[in-house]
Formats: sequence, structure tokens, C-alpha cells
Amino acid sequence: MLESLTLTNFKAFAHQELRLAPFTLLTGLNSSGKSSVLQSLALLRQSYESGDLAPVGSREPGLLLNDELVQLGTGRDVRHESYDEAGPHIALAVRGDGVKAQWTARYEQEADHLKLFQNGKGGENRSGLSRDPIALLPTLFGPGFQYLKADRVSPQVSYPRSHHAVTTRGFLGAHGEHTVNYLRINQDEPVVGKRLRISDAHPVGLLGQTQAWMQKLCPGVNLKAEDIADTDTVRLSYSFGSGALGSNSYRPTNVGFGLTYVLPIVVACLSARPGTLILLENPEAHLHPQGQTWMAYLASAAAASGAQIIMETHSDHVLNGLRLRVKQGTLHSDDTAVHYFRRKELTSEVVNPVIGPDGRLSEWPEGFFDEWENSLDQLLD
Ligand SMILES: Nc1ncnc2c1ncn2[C@@H]1O[C@H](COP(=O)(O)OP(=O)(O)O)[C@@H](O)[C@H]1O
Ligand SMILES: [Mg+2]
Repeated sequence: MLESLTLTNFKAFAHQELRLAPFTLLTGLNSSGKSSVLQSLALLRQSYESGDLAPVGSREPGLLLNDELVQLGTGRDVRHESYDEAGPHIALAVRGDGVKAQWTARYEQEADHLKLFQNGKGGENRSGLSRDPIALLPTLFGPGFQYLKADRVSPQVSYPRSHHAVTTRGFLGAHGEHTVNYLRINQDEPVVGKRLRISDAHPVGLLGQTQAWMQKLCPGVNLKAEDIADTDTVRLSYSFGSGALGSNSYRPTNVGFGLTYVLPIVVACLSARPGTLILLENPEAHLHPQGQTWMAYLASAAAASGAQIIMETHSDHVLNGLRLRVKQGTLHSDDTAVHYFRRKELTSEVVNPVIGPDGRLSEWPEGFFDEWENSLDQLLD
């Protein structure tokens, strides 16, 4: 498990350490630095996957700013604007899995591959470049990693069929584009986490359990994921009800947007294994309030089953769903971390309300999910 992340001169942060828990919630106003936190981890992951963190041969190790997971621009875009000239250039440090690793990159304004300092140069660098990063930090670099960005693919008539993405890498795509094919191939795979299984669902594999969670969002919905013969595409279809009362199959474009939009999140959580890292941006998008609470229940169940969730959200219902799961005892309060980001001049600062065992929060900073109260105060005035 990842226990902390420290960002130095990275985007909105001059220097910021964040505690990471099995379920970490990133909250705050727009443009306060939440996505940047997810991006820093995705940047390390994509640099690892491209072979840039620990390259073989004479290539120099570096951070690859633009690739499959994130497209951050050049050094100028990534380095914190009011950086301290005397300090390190751009540093990302992660503590977890029993190690502390730091990657310090040399600033170059126009470069989209920022060279890493080797051990001992440019400040301490314990990136363990001589070791395989997977062995160093399996949570971040090992199998099962998912990063689902806010801009997920919209409902479509067909989806790509990539054997490499789904079977070799087990990846749903940063936009969830491989989800339908993943579901098609793994539909009978058992859902490992006990808390993730909804017992009365039938069948009991990934498809059946996905259907059961989707029925929490939309009662009676059934899914089918199948290939389209002789093409490189697959298809998703929905039906409602069962038996004589069952509906025809409908394509995603003719069914409510929210269902297809949330599918990658549901599949990511249900297919999580212990040690899997799942980064989620705004999973509540397009869900009705009760569905947003279920989203927190689903992610809490994944965290309680050994996965690690880092979620950016604007939803009070997600926050309250998490607090309820803590109060109900299905997730330990120590296994949660809440970070509330706010801009202070050119940098972002972070406040940490703590969820107690009774589900109550230790503090409510101004602007932290207080819009209900603000509006009610004015309505009752
Ligand atoms: N190089 C940089 N230096 C300072 N601030 C930056 C830099 N790059 C982005 N930012 C700031 O980061 C914020 C965007 O952060 P982001 O993580 O996308 O926000 P959100 O909280 O909405 O997810 C903006 O306020 C932007 O000004
Ligand atoms: Mg964001």
C-alpha cells in the first residue's frame, strides 16, 4: 500500500506531503490541485510502463510527460510556477510497500522527457534505479493498476477490442475505453473481494456482480458484452426486467448516459485484487444522489477488500457514503484519509478533516461541503 506522496515543485504544489490510506478522498474547489495529485502517480506509472524510469542500455532515465495516461506538456507546464531556484527541480516521492522512493527530475523548459538525477546527484535520490521498480513499489508499478479520468468515453455503439490492453495488461483504459472488452473476456472471473460480492446476484462472476451493482443504480438492468464478428470491436447492450416481462436489447446510445458512464468504475472496483491501486476522477459524474452514495459503498468495499482507492470528488453523497461505511464498521476510520485542497496565492494548501469511528468529521473548513448549510441559512433567514 502507498502511505504517502510528496510533491515538490510539481504543478500547483511548491511542496506538499499527503497521507495516503486504503481509501483517500481528494476534495476542494475547482482548480485546487486534486487532479494534479492523481497525475503525479499516473506520470510515474506511465514513465515506468514506457521503460523510462529504469531504462535498459544507454538511455537516460526520465519522466515521460506525455503518453497514454497523462499529457502534461513540457517542463514549463509541470514545474511549479513560483519554484525556489535553490531547491530541487521537480521531485515526486512515494512511501509505501516498505520503502521510500524519490524521483528528482532536472528542469528543462521545452522538454517533455525530464531527465532524472541518478543516485547522489541533484539531492538525494532513492529511486532505486538499479532495482526493478515493480519489486520496489508493487502497488504503483504492479498489475491491476487503473486510472479512470473524468473524461470517460461516452456511450457508443461499439468499443475497441484490444487483446493487449485487456489480457496482457488488465487495463480498462484511462477513459474506460477497454471496459466492455474487459467485461466480455472476464465475465466469468470470480469477484475476489468478499465485501464486493452482492450475494443474491446471479451469476456470481464479474458480469453478474457488475449487473448487481448496476441494479443498485438502475433497478432491473441487465448487461451483455459480446464481440462483433470479423471486426476489431465489441458491443455492449442493455435490457430491463427478465423472463416474459423482459425488454428487448438496447444499445448504450439509447440508454441513460449515467449507466454506461459509470460502468468502468464498477468494473475497476469489482475486478480489484489485494494490492491493486485505483485512481478515480469524479466517479459521481452523471449519477443521481443515491447512486453517488452507492459509488462510495462500492469503493469502500474495494478498499476493505485490500485495494487502494484514491478518489477525486465533488460529491457530498460520496463523502457521506464513506462516513456511513466507517460508522457501520465495514471500513476502519484509520483506513480513510480526506484531503481538502484550497488555493493560497500561487500554491495549493491542504487541510485534513479526519473521519472518526462514529463517521463524524473532526473539522469543517470553510468551503468544505458546506453549500447545503449556506443555502439553507439563506432560505431560512
Ligand atoms: N506549473 C504550475 N505552477 C503553478 N500552478 C499550476 C501549475 N500548473 C497548474 N497549476 C495550477 O493547478 C491548478 C489545477 O490543478 P488541478 O489538479 O487540475 O485542479 P482540480 O482540483 O480541479 O483537479 C490550477 O489552479 C493551476 O493554476
Ligand atoms: Mg480535477
